[in-house]
Parts: sequence; structure tokens; C-alpha cells
Amino acid sequence: MSYDTISVTPVTPRIGADVDGIELAKPLSNRQVEELHQALVEHQVLFFRNQILDVDAHKRVGRYFGELHIHPNTPGPEGHPEILPIHADANSKRINGEYWHSDVSCDEEPPLGSVLYLHTIPNAGGDTLFASQFAAYDALSPRVKDYLEGLTATHSGDHVYRRHNALVGRDDRNKSFPQASHPVVRTHPVSQRKALFINRNFTTRIDNLPEDEGRAILNYLFEHSTREEFQVRFRWTPHSVVFWDNRSVQHMALWDYYPQTRSGRRVTIKGDRPF
Ligand code: SIN
Repeated sequence: MSYDTISVTPVTPRIGADVDGIELAKPLSNRQVEELHQALVEHQVLFFRNQILDVDAHKRVGRYFGELHIHPNTPGPEGHPEILPIHADANSKRINGEYWHSDVSCDEEPPLGSVLYLHTIPNAGGDTLFASQFAAYDALSPRVKDYLEGLTATHSGDHVYRRHNALVGRDDRNKSFPQASHPVVRTHPVSQRKALFINRNFTTRIDNLPEDEGRAILNYLFEHSTREEFQVRFRWTPHSVVFWDNRSVQHMALWDYYPQTRSGRRVTIKGDRPF
């Protein structure tokens, strides 16, 4: 694919590209937005360096790609419910995204993607890992692909958000959290490529299978879907932005930098019901 308004350099053959020649804080042209979306679908996660994004510019970037999502457990600060603060320091009991996942896959219509901006980075560590679920699907044997065809799995937010809330001391007794069934293999709405759509954080069972059979299949898929050869790893520098396609990527954040500070914020773009 060639691009006129941005420069796109793959980081691995399967997933991830560095994007240069664009200032995300400035209003973007239709062509720039179109090319960013093309690059996202092609490379699944895009990396941008040296971008200064205030809250309004950050939300504007997300809105070029769709309506912004409000997190079911952690709505943002006053006036900015669409902002998800991403912050860890010496007082943190947990961080966001410590286990492999696709963002809020427990929603009936899970997000299209997320745009994460970090301004403060530890001296070393705090990388984010991404795994291509196209590559994971492609590498399955034809027999396993046949077996998975038509299966759905349950994704639940309950255990995820209650564990989080217990750790940070937030009372959630009167709250309920999303749960949804999604195809185990989904079709990307733009590229029509097939991707695995299960993850260790939210997926609790395969529907309509005996419990032990479903658990064995899920354990296999959790391991398979995050194999190193499907991954790219991003080493953050201050004021970097990462934009990932939640429809074809799992990711996890490494918390190997305690007690240092890592800080920024995320906006998340609403998506469609997987098919
Ligand atoms: C997340 O959005 O899951 C957090 C990712 C990160 O902090 O690197």
C-alpha cells in the first residue's frame, strides 16, 4: 500500500508500523484520516513519536474514526468522560491492561480501537506488547479452523472490574458490568480478514460446549494467540501515541518499572457488533 500524506514503515512483517510526517495535534485533512485508517487496517497498530496532545486534541484525533466510548468502570474526569487516565506510580496497586486483552471485549459492540498518549515514561520498561489476531488465526491448522467455525464465546467484565475495584478500594456493590457473546473467529469489517477474538482477561467460556472441553480449547487459544512471532513490542518515549485496531489485536502493558511513574491517557473509539 502506498501513502501520499504520511510515511509508514513496518516494524515487523505481521504487525506494527511507525508513522511519520504527521502532527496529530493539528486538524487533519480527510485524506490524512483516510490514510491513517488504511494503515491501521493494514498494520493493526500504529506508532507515533514526538506528539504533544492536550485533552481536546486527543479527543479530536479519536473522533476522526468514530464516536468516543465511555469506559463502563472508569469514566473520565469532570467534563471529559471519554478520557481513560492511564497512570501508575509508587502508590499504585494495579495498572490498566496488565493481562492480554482486547479493550472492553465484554461490550455488545466492542471498541474499534484505542489511541493511547503517554507523556511520562519510566527510565526503562513500561513497554506495551501487541499480538496480531490475523496472524494467530492464519497459523491455525485447517482442522482447528473448521472446529472453531460458528462457535461463540462469553466475554464478561464482572470479574475484571470487580478485581480492579477491590484493589483500589472502590465500592461497586450497586454496579453491574457488561457481558456479551461474540464469535470466536471474527471477520474484520474493513479488510474481511479473519481474526481470533478471545482473550485471557475477558473471555470466560465457549458457549454450548461442555465446560472442560471449552476450557481446554480456550487455554490452547490463549497461548496460541499471543505467541511471540505474532507480536510487536513498543518501547515508549515521552509524548508518543499508539493507535491500535481492537478488532484484530490483543495487547498487554508490562508493569516492570515499579515504583517509577508512567502516565498519560487513552481515548477509545466505539465499534460494531463482531460477526
Ligand atoms: C491499555 O489500554 O490496556 C493499557 C496499555 C498501556 O498502558 O500500555
